[in-house]
Amino acid sequence: MPIISILNPKGGCGKTTLSTNLARYYHDKEFKTLLVDTDPQGSSSDWHAAREDNPLPFIAYNKPDNLKALPGIAAAYDMVVIDGAAKLEGMMSAVIKVSDVILIPVQPSPYDIWATADLVDLIKARQNVTEGLPKAAFVVSRAVKRTLLEREVVDALTEYDLPVFESCTTQRQVYPRSAAQGLSVFDGLTAVQARTEIRSIAEELKSLYEGEYRHVA
Ligand SMILES: Nc1ncnc2c1ncn2[C@@H]1O[C@H](COP(=O)(O)OP(=O)(O)O)[C@@H](O)[C@H]1O
Ligand SMILES: [Mg+2]
Repeated sequence: MPIISILNPKGGCGKTTLSTNLARYYHDKEFKTLLVDTDPQGSSSDWHAAREDNPLPFIAYNKPDNLKALPGIAAAYDMVVIDGAAKLEGMMSAVIKVSDVILIPVQPSPYDIWATADLVDLIKARQNVTEGLPKAAFVVSRAVKRTLLEREVVDALTEYDLPVFESCTTQRQVYPRSAAQGLSVFDGLTAVQARTEIRSIAEELKSLYEGEYRHVA
């Protein structure tokens, strides 16, 4: 029952897109999956509500303290995916505390990467008192092309000494198009490349939480 959180205080970096698509990926693989919204903006809640017959179990939390109940609830699931709060005092720390794995989506710009410094500090402070847990990694989100990253982006990321996933999402219309209908890239649309992106991210996540991830600096 790993609790996977998608965290980054910056809005627009792809947290909700990754959370909803990963949750649907796990659900389709027949993992009993719970999607959790911790963002007061409620995008995952809106996404979930946009489809009357949404098959995913779902909870929204609006107070950090309420998250204390999550580990108990998570025990009944194979997979829990938390869509992280953009900015809500205390919510980020509460999410870090209940997480087994944290994925930090970042757009490939040095400014966006530097903006994650406080989050990385919070994660490392937690890792220092809990024998390296939760595990955490960056995933590049909304890359314009799946080419080698610019030198300055790679340099900015390596400063943090956290793994950076080889897989990423690239900028594709199918992400907002499917979200608008409460769907994922695994529903009806022709979205072969987007599906491959989400599947590859899920596979890297698996090796991260199973402790087999090799950090190539
Ligand atoms: N890979 C992508 N390609 C195209 N649009 C994307 C991609 N990822 C996210 N978006 C769009 O960018 C906007 C912000 O993404 P979102 O997932 O809501 O970010 P966050 O939850 O971090 O604020 C949304 O309109 C979303 O549909
Ligand atoms: Mg969001």
